[in-house]
Amino acid sequence: MNILAIESSCDETAVAIVQDGRKVLTDQIASQVELHRIYGGVVPEIASRMHIEAIYGLADQALANANLTRNDIDAVAVTYAPSLIGAVLVGVNFAKAVALALNKPLIPVHHIRGHIAANYLAYPELKPPFLCLVVSGGHTMFVDVKDYTDMEILGTTLDDAAGECFDKIARVLDMPYPGGAMLDKAAQSGDDTKYKLPKSKPGENPYDMSFSGLKTATLNLIHHAEQVGEELDINSLCASFSATVSDTLTSRVELALKQTGYKKLAVAGGVAANSRIRADIAKIAEQQGAKLYLPPLSLCGDNAAMIGAQGYYEYLAGNIADMNLNAYATKSIIGETL
Ligand code: KG4
Ligand code: ZN
Repeated sequence: MNILAIESSCDETAVAIVQDGRKVLTDQIASQVELHRIYGGVVPEIASRMHIEAIYGLADQALANANLTRNDIDAVAVTYAPSLIGAVLVGVNFAKAVALALNKPLIPVHHIRGHIAANYLAYPELKPPFLCLVVSGGHTMFVDVKDYTDMEILGTTLDDAAGECFDKIARVLDMPYPGGAMLDKAAQSGDDTKYKLPKSKPGENPYDMSFSGLKTATLNLIHHAEQVGEELDINSLCASFSATVSDTLTSRVELALKQTGYKKLAVAGGVAANSRIRADIAKIAEQQGAKLYLPPLSLCGDNAAMIGAQGYYEYLAGNIADMNLNAYATKSIIGETL
């Protein structure tokens, strides 16, 4: 089954064709990052307009690259939630038009379910159930992936997402948007013990976490140094910050592996590209005797291949939409409108 998959939820327009949920025939991405960089973050209106300009050409290019025609497409999958509403709407409307014109099923896919499914592309042997740590720009949570379309949220951030914090600190350090990757690079040559930063303590739900205290403390430290004219060791600050985020995540990963008994652990989302988090989680997984599924860097960030992968399993589960499909800025991974 060839699924034409569309992703337009943030600042990447992406179109892919994925066969039977596991084989990527083509994966086209047009990034808008350079445009938004001027403003230090995504400008929603610009994102929507750029999606409109890019999406038709990308879809044609996807067919040409895969050496397929429109008649070879069996279904259309699209990110319908959550993120910038105008941006998601572009993809949803394009997907509706294609599905209607080709008279093929329309499959709505939750963006974060897509991130989790990126692992199915990288690891053909991976099947639910497994535990998944989701760390993206907008979400940080532990998910019990009971089945391809049956998930439970074990815990989540109570405030900021990890990616948001990486970007905020990077921005204050004058690193260009989105700064997570550059902060990660700087951290690699820093001393992670140089700056003491506050770590989120376990709350009522031990899998929940908080990053706003860490963000504020790091921002205060930077502003204070500026005010008193103290020169900061930027690489070490980045290393200390990354280590603190990683500790918050890995301590909960360890607990979750122990309590759930899962021996399969996956990581998903843009922040899964972080070198410190990857290394620390690999250690914990090894200690706990769990097999670790880390997507390659190319599948950590936003892409349409992951939407095609999850779309296949949504289709098998009967999750098909009609022409009334809407886009949602917020929607839980387990389906209910927030
Ligand atoms: O999953 P994603 O592509 O978009 C959302 O669905 O939100 O995640 C993007 C986030 C950005 O915050 C970006 O700075 C962060 O992932 N990111 C990183 C790294 N690479 C990307 N954060 C830390 N270290 C990295 N190496
Ligand atoms: Zn994403």
